[in-house]
Amino acid sequence: MADLKQNRRNFLKGTALAGGALLAGRATGAAAAEGDPAILDIQPWAQQLGEGVDARPYGYPSPHEKHVVRRSVEWLTADPVSSVNFTPLHELDGIITPNGLCFERHHAGIAEVEPSKFRLMINGLVDKPLVFTMEDLKRYPRVNKMFFLECAANSGMEWRGSQLNGCQYTHGMIHNVMYTGVPLKYLLEEAGLKTNAKWIMPEGADASAMTRSIPVFKALDDCIVAFMMNGEALRPEQGYPARLVVPGWEGNMWVKWLRRIEVGDEPWHHREETSKYTDLMENGKARRFTWEMDAKSVITNPSPQAPIPHGKGHTILSGVAWSGRGTITHVDVTIDGGKNWHAARIDGPSLDKSMHRFYYEFDWDGKPLLLQSRAVDSTGYIQPTKDALRAVRGENSIYHNNGIQTWYVNANGEAENVEVS
Ligand code: MTE
Ligand code: CO
Repeated sequence: MADLKQNRRNFLKGTALAGGALLAGRATGAAAAEGDPAILDIQPWAQQLGEGVDARPYGYPSPHEKHVVRRSVEWLTADPVSSVNFTPLHELDGIITPNGLCFERHHAGIAEVEPSKFRLMINGLVDKPLVFTMEDLKRYPRVNKMFFLECAANSGMEWRGSQLNGCQYTHGMIHNVMYTGVPLKYLLEEAGLKTNAKWIMPEGADASAMTRSIPVFKALDDCIVAFMMNGEALRPEQGYPARLVVPGWEGNMWVKWLRRIEVGDEPWHHREETSKYTDLMENGKARRFTWEMDAKSVITNPSPQAPIPHGKGHTILSGVAWSGRGTITHVDVTIDGGKNWHAARIDGPSLDKSMHRFYYEFDWDGKPLLLQSRAVDSTGYIQPTKDALRAVRGENSIYHNNGIQTWYVNANGEAENVEVS
């Protein structure tokens, strides 16, 4: 991996980079072309009746969009039941991840929970242990909130140098969804927390029985027991019939197929917070309980799976940014490897701990580009370079890599994952 990075660095030294101020805002519509069959011919879809309203009781995308799918990296894991697939970020726009494209991370496959057998127990340091059915949950006041979920391992393969060619693989362990559910606070308050209750331990009903320790202050602040995503029932992949939503915190804590919440006075130090999801530092000590996901961004278009298709001229650069600590206040973009930075335009809702969409429109001169984006969040935190991260954390980490991503774009508009320093 280190060699690859070195090679790419040398390669880049000899590359002439596009520089200088670039003009934006040119219209791209073509003049009306005489005899264009796409205009003049009566197309097949206008020569016959289409399918009726009874053909698609549950809708699905156009066959022309069949390449827009979750993908996995074969060599990454030994078996698909304890594995991950990735959201095709380069095919999406706006900020909502469609339900069928939300990346999946399972430790023991997808549990197919029978909703009538769903039980959520709250026990431990409470006045009154309680058990909730789905019907019970649906009789509590509910909220609708949009949040990103990012796996702590997102970009983990990139710690020691650029590796995977595509933002789907480097950054696709994230989705951004509108959840409907019951604030966990209501359920904990009903059970009655004892004065020494300081931690909760949600547990999954799948064969991995995933458990994590979460401090009570977070549980009472903004955690949700969610049963809907983007307006419909959770998908089995995402924890049907109910999952825990832990806004802004690492994905591993968002326990799916929720079955129990134990209340205690100290953390449980289970597998997922000791041997996994801790960050091994340079001195050999592991940093634990890194819950909040730091501000991060990535350019989704152009990117290795989404080259510039049109040659030089007016070009739309687009990407996403997010922070586990609040909103994104601005995103800066460079097309020359960091010599000049430009303010990107954030468009669409700017919501707390939710994905933000940004654009930068520029006039491409057709010369190679080095693209980077840098997010700043509402606490003033600035997304660091990968080298700055390594200077503090060393090279042993996998998790919590929020370093700035670079794409090299050649004169044909094809992009590649590289690093510059
Ligand atoms: N909950 C259970 N019960 N089992 C699991 O394997 N995986 C965790 C978390 N919750 C997991 C789980 C991890 S590591 C992540 S990143 C997220 O769920 C992934 O959520 P998603 O599959 O909706 O993307
Ligand atoms: Co994860």
